[in-house]
Amino acid sequence: MESLLDDIQSVLYSAEDIRRRVKELGAELSSWYRDEVPLVVGILKGASYFLADLTREMPIPLEIDYMVVSSYGTSTRSSGVVRILKDLDYDISGRHVLLVEDIIDTGLTLRYLVDILARRNPKSLKIVTLLDKPARRKVDLVPDLVGFTAPDEFLVGYGLDYAERYRNLPFVGILKSRVYAEQR
Ligand code: PRP
Ligand code: MN
Ligand code: MG
Repeated sequence: MESLLDDIQSVLYSAEDIRRRVKELGAELSSWYRDEVPLVVGILKGASYFLADLTREMPIPLEIDYMVVSSYGTSTRSSGVVRILKDLDYDISGRHVLLVEDIIDTGLTLRYLVDILARRNPKSLKIVTLLDKPARRKVDLVPDLVGFTAPDEFLVGYGLDYAERYRNLPFVGILKSRVYAEQR
């Protein structure tokens, strides 16, 4: 049986590194929303594991919603076109909204989402991302809270995919270049 591990060059952030950092992020966010009930919005699919673990480190009243968007498709590069496949279930006007992302790369996905959501008049709109690659930014987008500032490598695991696979790895690793070179 083939193993996903054979395609990993190295582990960048171990499951334990992530667990420890997510605990810190949860504590920080809980202090931000001490007197408010935030609507925590996971940007699927990438943010699924991060949102699940993060909210379990936030022992405060909160609500959860999801948006499903896609910009990469099965390519390794951002197309620059963001598609909303599922919008929020709830009206966010007057609400404190926290967007949860797995990674910010070019910033195109969140720039687009923030512009759309800001027009719905939330009381506040903040961004937490597990990983940030500021070196890759194409548009102005600064998250409010970052787990790790990541190097410019092709990362997979803990929600991050290549062609929809590898999301279920419990760590964030660097994908061997032969894996995506094979597809060209
Ligand atoms: C990935 C990732 C972020 C976005 C970051 O999502 O999860 O949402 O790309 O890239 P950007 O800053 O350059 O826009 P993707 O579109 O691959 O969808 P997925 O979450 O379903 O994998
Ligand atoms: Mn995503
Ligand atoms: Mg993806």
